Amino acid sequence: DAVPVLAIDGPGGAGKGTVSRLLASALGWHYLDSGALYRIVALAARRSAVALEDEPRVAALVPALDIRFGTGSDDSVWLQGEEVSAHIRHEEAGAMASVVAALPAVREALLLRQRAFRQAPGLVADGRDMGTVVFIDALQKVFLTASAQERADRRYKQLIAKGIDVNIGDLLADINARDARDSSRAVAPLRPADDAIVVDTTRMSIPEVVSQILAMVNKKR
Ligand code: C5P
Repeated sequence: DAVPVLAIDGPGGAGKGTVSRLLASALGWHYLDSGALYRIVALAARRSAVALEDEPRVAALVPALDIRFGTGSDDSVWLQGEEVSAHIRHEEAGAMASVVAALPAVREALLLRQRAFRQAPGLVADGRDMGTVVFIDALQKVFLTASAQERADRRYKQLIAKGIDVNIGDLLADINARDARDSSRAVAPLRPADDAIVVDTTRMSIPEVVSQILAMVNKKR
């Protein structure tokens, strides 16, 4: 049988990262942070002085990238042997990622790399197109969402807790801009898979979200 995948898609700030990590740990499954891959590609492009919109040149960088992730509760990310976690978690890195993510050749170059994370006993895959493109045969597909205001509030609290000074109005504007770019792009636009369960977390706590999704997965296992 194919290794089971739990696909968690949705807009930025809906809590996908936190919820997906908790689910992976509860299930004892691997975890793929696909957004980190796009963030890394954007960082690599900038470091190589390649314009983010230069599709062939950005895509050509991908095969040579040595990307490593910490496992379990270690959420560090490494590029060519250097820890880049702080660099890629920045708001600006997210905005840059959404520019390279709109390039079909970049998405194609990352496809097999993402599928390689599918290893026994299972994978929790976090992103925008896990259920619609990368793992269309996922065991369970979830589209995790929340109102833009709620997502801006959450992001604000996260960043402030990390000591990063931000303005809530700017965050909301960034979230709206990134949603628009991710939903309107021609290739792999952000949308729920036809067979995804939509979970609106606006008024839910993290443990509530995790246990609701775990119950869905356990019913299918
Ligand atoms: O999830 P995260 O905020 O790290 O993603 C950064 C950007 O990468 C998103 O705004 C989106 O444009 C892109 N992305 C994507 N497909 C994925 C994951 C992320 O297009 N599977």
